[in-house]
Amino acid sequence: MSTYPVLLTPGDGIGPEVMAEATKVLARVERRFHHEFHFEEETIGGAAIDTYGMALRPETVAKAKASRAVLFGAVGGPKWDDPRASVRPEDAILGMRKQLGLFANLRPVRIHPLMIGDSSLKPEVLEGTDMVVIRELTGGLYFGQPKKRWQSAAGRQAVDTLRYSEKEVARVCHVAFQLARQRRKKVTSVDKANVLRTGQMWREIATEVGRLYPDVELEHILVDACAMYLLRRPASFDVIVTENMFGDILTDEAAMLAGSMGMMPSASLGRRRKDGTGIGLYEPIHGSAPDIAGQRKANPLAMILSTAMMLRLSLGLEAEAAAVEAAVDSVIRDGYRTPDIAATGSHVVDTAKMGTLVAERV
Ligand code: IPM
Ligand code: MG
Repeated sequence: MSTYPVLLTPGDGIGPEVMAEATKVLARVERRFHHEFHFEEETIGGAAIDTYGMALRPETVAKAKASRAVLFGAVGGPKWDDPRASVRPEDAILGMRKQLGLFANLRPVRIHPLMIGDSSLKPEVLEGTDMVVIRELTGGLYFGQPKKRWQSAAGRQAVDTLRYSEKEVARVCHVAFQLARQRRKKVTSVDKANVLRTGQMWREIATEVGRLYPDVELEHILVDACAMYLLRRPASFDVIVTENMFGDILTDEAAMLAGSMGMMPSASLGRRRKDGTGIGLYEPIHGSAPDIAGQRKANPLAMILSTAMMLRLSLGLEAEAAAVEAAVDSVIRDGYRTPDIAATGSHVVDTAKMGTLVAERV
């Protein structure tokens, strides 16, 4: 029997509710496949600000580093929303990404054939959509220095810095090309090379890295055009790779292709071992959804699908990951839906029931 240490950070809002369903599914994986997950749990985000005065404690980062993976719920809420606050719940996720060196964020967008009618786009546009957006996660506008606000004679001023090094761009491009090789062999690199110096360098480096993967097709598109093509020809994308902030924006848009953010998992990865595994952080992209927290309405499928990504990418448990994904598919096929994805004729269930249904089918 193998033992896997996993850190759970449920966080705020619906984070704890969806986390409970992920651990329910993992308990089933343990029994069926004879593994043992060794869970530790840490308070982060707004909850940690209330208890410890900071969103992410050094102890939590140390525990994350000692684990094989972090399952991350969500952080934030109106209580901690003051834009002038010196500590913010978001520090937890940004700090984890940076301190664990998780530079590549994988956000797969697949549309379940039975849910194609739930999107605001026409089924004929969506048909065949199956892409992974790789967002650079530890550089760019989010972390570049200087980053500050100050008062001047002319009034308030503020600056954020968009800065990249060659190494940062190259390593995330390698992740994109390697992933494309296992898929449809196409990479779309997204930049703003018509205006930004960083964009020009990004395009140059993506091209150089692309030469090392002659079997993979590379296209470059500008970020504004990409926003448009995501709505016009989403099925033409295989792997998209882009700067941190562009990726933040484009992945919310891409999530809506699938009808609901409640279905979108993500994996944040750093350097890999030879066998392809390595520490990762896995989180649903929907955030803390304070408007529905505590109402048993939250869709746990994004968290559960993130857990499947963890099994595959950090623990090297491919069969187990596939079993969880198949269980989710089967529950969808049988018409079970949480309120966010409910359609006519579906069986509407609450968060806990959805988790139980998936767990039973693993
Ligand atoms: C995301 C979120 C985060 C981000 C927030 C919560 C800081 O929007 O993961 O996309 O901007 O990266
Ligand atoms: Mg975002």
